[in-house]
Amino acid sequence: MHTTKTKQHVPVLAEEVLDVMKPKKGEGYLDLTAGYGGHAKSVLEITSSSAVLVDRDMNAVDELKNMFEQWPNVSIMHEDFFQACKNLRQNGDKFDLILVDLGVSSPHLDKASRGFSLSVDGPLDMRMDESQDLTAEKVVNTYAQEYLEKIIREYGEEPKARLMAKLIIESRPLKNTHELASIAKKVWPGNSRVHPATRLFQAIRIEVNDELKQLEQSLPIMVDLLSPGGRLGIISFHSLEDRIVKRFFKEKTGDRYDSELIELTKKPLSATQNELDFNPRSRSAKIRVVAKINTKKKGQG
Ligand SMILES: C[S@@+](CC[C@H](N)C(=O)[O-])C[C@H]1O[C@@H](n2cnc3c(N)ncnc32)[C@H](O)[C@@H]1O
Repeated sequence: MHTTKTKQHVPVLAEEVLDVMKPKKGEGYLDLTAGYGGHAKSVLEITSSSAVLVDRDMNAVDELKNMFEQWPNVSIMHEDFFQACKNLRQNGDKFDLILVDLGVSSPHLDKASRGFSLSVDGPLDMRMDESQDLTAEKVVNTYAQEYLEKIIREYGEEPKARLMAKLIIESRPLKNTHELASIAKKVWPGNSRVHPATRLFQAIRIEVNDELKQLEQSLPIMVDLLSPGGRLGIISFHSLEDRIVKRFFKEKTGDRYDSELIELTKKPLSATQNELDFNPRSRSAKIRVVAKINTKKKGQG
């Protein structure tokens, strides 16, 4: 085990998850981004039933194993959630509650060696799963300029993507996050409230972890994994993720004969001022929740 003591991750929108998803005693729970177990623990304290907790980061998985050692019905999977969803569907598993809390955890951002942080220098890594081959180093030092530009524009929504890609190529080989961030500072000189490399780092991180494809491809399987009446909640942190979730839920809900889901949150919920005061990471978090229509009831109605 390679557990290191990391700064605690405070789960976002924890009250909203319970208020809208309404876990009940005996319900089966699937947490596809279990992280440091904050959401899982609060749900399991109510359900006291079986659960599957998934994370692609081995540090998180080690923490989860320690945390849930005494819970006999909790199984923990080290996998990306697309693969986990496929395996669970293949087994014929069904869940009453499925939660996805996207993105990185506080330990990812706080540990310089993971390469996610904008404020401390680290290696060009950014892998959530450190056993995978693709790293930020490979992306910035080997991708063709046009492809880099496309990633920075599409995944970072960076208006100066062309110039950033050009400067990255000219600065090769880039060795650390500090060098990468300094390219964005050259492109955006002057003081700004938000770090000028925020969008660039987001883009590279999404590419390294294939984050949007993971989400897009897994959403339909998540619906298959829901029991009738089951609830699916997705917490997103930026507009690219939220757009995917919003579109997908729109397709599957509505007053149509063949709709599979109903929306439990007409508009996404975000953090209250109280939460923002003690957990600034919740600033951009949004949760959308749907429930699977109980088709038997629908037929009878
Ligand atoms: C925001 S944290 C979740 C925190 C968790 N809800 C808690 O209460 O501690 C996101 C976690 O999801 C994991 N993750 C992100 N994308 C993933 C994916 N595609 N498959 C599996 N795990 C993923 C990350 O490694 C990270 O630990």
